[in-house]
Amino acid sequence: MRIDIITLLPKLLDGALSESIIKRAQNKGLVEIHIHNLRDYCEDKHRTADDYPFGGEAGMVMKVEPIYKIITRLKSEREYDEVIYTSPDGVTYNQQEANRLSTLENLIILCGHYKGVDYRVREHLITREISIGDYVLTGGELAAAIIADSVVRILPGAIGDECSALTDSFQDNLLAPPVYTRPAEFNGWRVPDVLLSGNFAEISKWQEDQAYERTRRLRPDLLEIK
Ligand code: ADE
Repeated sequence: MRIDIITLLPKLLDGALSESIIKRAQNKGLVEIHIHNLRDYCEDKHRTADDYPFGGEAGMVMKVEPIYKIITRLKSEREYDEVIYTSPDGVTYNQQEANRLSTLENLIILCGHYKGVDYRVREHLITREISIGDYVLTGGELAAAIIADSVVRILPGAIGDECSALTDSFQDNLLAPPVYTRPAEFNGWRVPDVLLSGNFAEISKWQEDQAYERTRRLRPDLLEIK
């Protein structure tokens, strides 16, 4: 898989995507992540990426030309399955969407800024608009990092224990059951006896019951999703 991220703040993404599982996935050749500085595609001497909105409201708008230039250049080199734009008014991101994106070959993620991009970018170049939640960030970089992280970690081979990604919260629309490690007792706080029993059928039943109980209590909305 290949992910191209277009941003005004490349340093913010460099750090977020060069650690731990994401770094290992890149080193193993499972994914290539390319970060492009949008300013390199701005032609004027101040490398201006934004301008005042027509209509006169407050705030700045990201210009169409540099974005067109980089997306067209990338598309001339390979086919892209999705051109994603990160924005608080996109569709809300979830695990199903991460799973879907992880099956694709080539993705572009354009990070929004200021009041957003010139709407012509969204009309003509973007295929998917994604919000990571109902709140507003200073820019789309953290959203892009979240999307890339959640997609890359489920690529086959990215996580050492292949089963582990499948037991994550949300994979079955269920929250994950509690986990514990040694010592079995600390400060008078005991790990549930069943987990120490060695009876795998009982352990598995306990984990399932816990997953349902936690989901019913904390996220009942997930149980309504078909
Ligand atoms: N940019 C600013 N806020 C955002 C959000 N909630 N999701 C995605 N991109 C954003």
